[in-house]
Parts: sequence; C-alpha cells; structure tokens
Amino acid sequence: MSKATFSFHVALVVAVVLLAVCNAGASEECRKRWIHIRKLPPMFNLDLLVNCSEYPMLEDLCPYLGNHGLGQKTHNRSHSWYRTDPSMLELIFHRRMLEYPCLTQDPALADAIYLPYYAALDALRYLYGPDANSSAQHGLHLFHFLQHDNPQIFHRRMSHDHFLVMARPAWDFSQPLSNDPPIWGTSFLELPHFFNLTALTLESRAWPWQEHAVPYPTSFHPPNLGLLESWLSRARRSKRSVLALFAGGGGVSAAPNIRRSIRTECENATSSASDSDSPYDTLCQIVDCSNGVCEHDPIRFMRPMLQATFCLQPPGDTPTRRSTFDAILAGCIPVFFEDLSAKAQYGWHLPQPEFEDFSVFIPKEEVVFKGMRILDVLQRIPRARVRTMRERVLELIPGVLYRKHNASPGLREKKDAFDLAIDGVLDKIRSRLQDLDMGVSVL
Ligand SMILES: *[C@@H]1O[C@H](CO)[C@@H](O)[C@H](O)[C@H]1NC(C)=O
Ligand SMILES: *[C@@H]1O[C@H](CO)[C@@H](O)[C@H](O)[C@H]1NC(C)=O
Ligand SMILES: *[C@@H]1O[C@H](CO)[C@@H](O)[C@H](O)[C@H]1NC(C)=O
Ligand SMILES: *[C@@H]1O[C@H](CO)[C@@H](O)[C@H](O)[C@H]1NC(C)=O
Ligand SMILES: *[C@@H]1O[C@H](CO)[C@@H](O)[C@H](O)[C@H]1NC(C)=O
Repeated sequence: MSKATFSFHVALVVAVVLLAVCNAGASEECRKRWIHIRKLPPMFNLDLLVNCSEYPMLEDLCPYLGNHGLGQKTHNRSHSWYRTDPSMLELIFHRRMLEYPCLTQDPALADAIYLPYYAALDALRYLYGPDANSSAQHGLHLFHFLQHDNPQIFHRRMSHDHFLVMARPAWDFSQPLSNDPPIWGTSFLELPHFFNLTALTLESRAWPWQEHAVPYPTSFHPPNLGLLESWLSRARRSKRSVLALFAGGGGVSAAPNIRRSIRTECENATSSASDSDSPYDTLCQIVDCSNGVCEHDPIRFMRPMLQATFCLQPPGDTPTRRSTFDAILAGCIPVFFEDLSAKAQYGWHLPQPEFEDFSVFIPKEEVVFKGMRILDVLQRIPRARVRTMRERVLELIPGVLYRKHNASPGLREKKDAFDLAIDGVLDKIRSRLQDLDMGVSVL
C-alpha cells in the first residue's frame, strides 16, 4: 500500500470515529436530510487507489490522491491552492461526506443512501485496460454485493434513494448494452439494475435520467473564511486589461469548428483596441494548454484569467470544461457557445433563470458558418452591464468551489459545491419518492 493510500485509510477511520461522537443533537437541522453511508468492501474504493501508478494509458495518478483527493499543494506555503485532478471528485466527495452533519448509522432512518464507490476509477480498466471488451460488466460486481449483503437496504425503495459520484461525463458510462465490442465507454448507466440510482457526474447527457451534473473541482480549496474572502477581494479588485481570453488547446486542424474560429479571430486581433477610450490593452489572448500542460498547474491560467473580462468556453471533445469553473473563480465572465456547455447542466450551482446575468451566449453556428465576430459581440456590451455581470460571477464563487475538508466553522456556514450537490440530491430523491408514492421519511 502506498503512503498516500495508507494515510487516507487512517484518516477515514479517524473521521468515522469522530463523527460518531459528534453526531448528537442535530435533529431539527437534519429533518428529511439524513444520509447513510453504505459500507462497501475495499475493492469498491480503497483498493482502487493501491495501484495508482499502474493504470493503463495514464500517467501516474498517485500524486493526485494526496490530501484526500485535492492533490499536492501548488507550493509549500499555499493554504488553498492544490494540483487537483477533477477525476478525484469521488475521493473529495467521500471525505466530505464523512463530515456531513446528518449522517445516520441506521439505513432504515435515512432519507438517502450514499454509495462510496469510486466508479470512474474502476471504469479505467474498461475504458483503457484489459477489460475493454467487457464494458457491459462495469458495476455488476457492485450490484451483486448490494443484492447479497443486507439486500433490504437496496430494495426498500427499489434503490430510488441511492446515489453515488461518477467523476467523468455520463457519456462515458452510457454505451448501449447491445454494442459489443463497445465503441466507447462502459454501460453502467444503461444497466437496468441501476436505472433508479442518482449519479453525480461532471457532465450529464442531453436527456438525463439517472444523473445530474456537478461542478468540476478547481484547484482552489480554502480552509477558512479569511482565505476565501481575501481571494474574493483579489478577484474583485483585479485590473482587467484583456477583453477576451481562451485557455485551452485544439483548433489547429483545418476542419471548421468553434475552437478554430476562436484561434483565427484571436490571432488576428493581437493589436490593441482601436478605440483609444477602451479599457483594454489587449483584445484577445490565448493561453496554450495543449498536451495537458495546464492540467495540474493552475498558475498558468489563473493569473491570465484574473486579468481578463471574458473567458471563452468552447466545447471540445465533450460540451463541458473544467475551465468554466476556473474562470468563474477568477471573476472572468464565461462566454458559452452552446447550452450543453453549462446552462443545461449545472442547474443546482448555476441558476438557470438568471443565466444571462452572469454569462454571455454566442451560438457557435453563427461564429463558424455565418461570420459573427466574438470580439465585436463582446465589445458591444455596455461597461455598466459588464460590471454587474462580473458582480454576479463573483457571487457564484462560494457555491462552485469545493472547500477543504475540515474547514473552519465560519466557512462551513457558506454553502459550497458539495453542500449544493447534497441539497440537490436530497430534493431529487424526495420528489422521486413522492411521485412514486414510496414512504418518505417522517423524521
Ligand atoms: C496491485 O498490483 C499488484 C501487482 O500487479 C497485484 O498483485 C495486486 O493484486 C494489485 N492490488 C489491487 C488491490 O488491485
Ligand atoms: C516542501 O516541504 C517539504 C517537507 O517539509 C520539503 O521536503 C520540500 O523540500 C519543500 N519543498 C520546497 C519546494 O520548498
Ligand atoms: C477486443 O476485441 C477486439 C476485436 O474483437 C480485439 O481486436 C481486441 O484485441 C480486444 N481487446 C482486448 C483488450 O482484449
Ligand atoms: C426501479 O423502479 C421501478 C419503478 O419504481 C421498479 O419497477 C424497478 O423494479 C426498479 N428497479 C430496480 C433495479 O430496483
Ligand atoms: C483580420 O482582420 C482584418 C482587419 O480587421 C480583417 O479584414 C480580416 O478579414 C481578418 N482576417 C481573418 C482571417 O479573420
């Protein structure tokens, strides 16, 4: 067992003991919010961390397991910044569940059951590894366990009250069972066995049933209110001398697509704004993140994002990007090119009715095929409007970040991405049970 895994294990045990001691007298705040953490054998979670350096096709994952999935600090004296890999959301979430104030040991009293299964880590052997031709098997071992160990827990409400985290786009788990061998992905979400679960994914499908998307983890995980507030004031005060920024890769092939259009327009606009009255030194800047160079190096893109007014969020391999949340964190107004990039995804965290108050929408077809210029659209937005949009973006920050586990009581008062995800899951399960008329807890 590696050192990181071992300390993770020890900390889990300590946290479980602590919570058993601290968990008294919370009944009113916990009404209809009790959650039971299902005990799973280590093959479903901790064992998946043991051989973290040996996953096929991937670099060594071990450094990203540290600090309960937050990864290593960006530098020794940093308190809030980590080299976080978003695929570690399963660990981050598990650790935060352990300090959730309304845990119950008794599944019969629970309003929801959390399965601490590291589904996306387990999926790697099907996605890239030796089990690539049996991806319809992904999850069957979990189902068998739930069928045989205290089966009444799974069956009490036909598993409608169960949820888990799957730290990838739902697309990666949606391979039709009939595709054999598979084209891409496992069939976890296609298995009838799991139709009733709620899965928290980094991206949902266009017509989701089981899943709901939650924010990609960024690199910022403050442990107390002071550090959050000093970041907020830095983002608020930051001088924005760049109109539009794109941090990412792609767009270099000849085929017309939105990334290519952005690249062309941006490279052609390197000269400064023609209007001498303009607050911008630079109209458009590209931070080249090709070959994954930005992934674990937040300084590369956070600094430029702090200096930009708008951050462009074109779809890539899939519609969503972690960068959307990095941009929000920097107070940089996100610009979307299709609704699936965020509006149709993160309703629990980015409220849909007010979406236009904190983001800009430019349809990608207009840009790619009809010559609409992104920079023209952005320059036409009145400055007063830009300021109010930025204020709204700054207000979103506390709710899209995952604060550090064991954070100060002051910071815990503010709902973060985890807290909003739990609110969302509990609401979703409650309304499903009501629709099905299945015993909603009276506690
Ligand atoms: C880790 O890898 C070793 C050597 O390949 C193997 O023997 C062991 O069973 C693996 N452990 C787990 C938990 O998969
Ligand atoms: C960070 O701290 C660790 C442990 O205290 C030390 O071994 C390491 O050299 C330090 N790294 C830097 C870059 O200062
Ligand atoms: C999966 O099946 C294909 C075609 O049947 C075969 O070429 C490939 O080697 C198999 N992959 C693995 C990992 O077994
Ligand atoms: C899922 O729910 C439906 C309707 O409540 C039920 O008929 C079905 O048996 C459930 N599936 C499982 C695997 O529990
Ligand atoms: C570059 O900018 C010039 C002047 O604004 C414009 O005429 C030209 O069409 C642009 N070229 C491309 C490839 O966008």
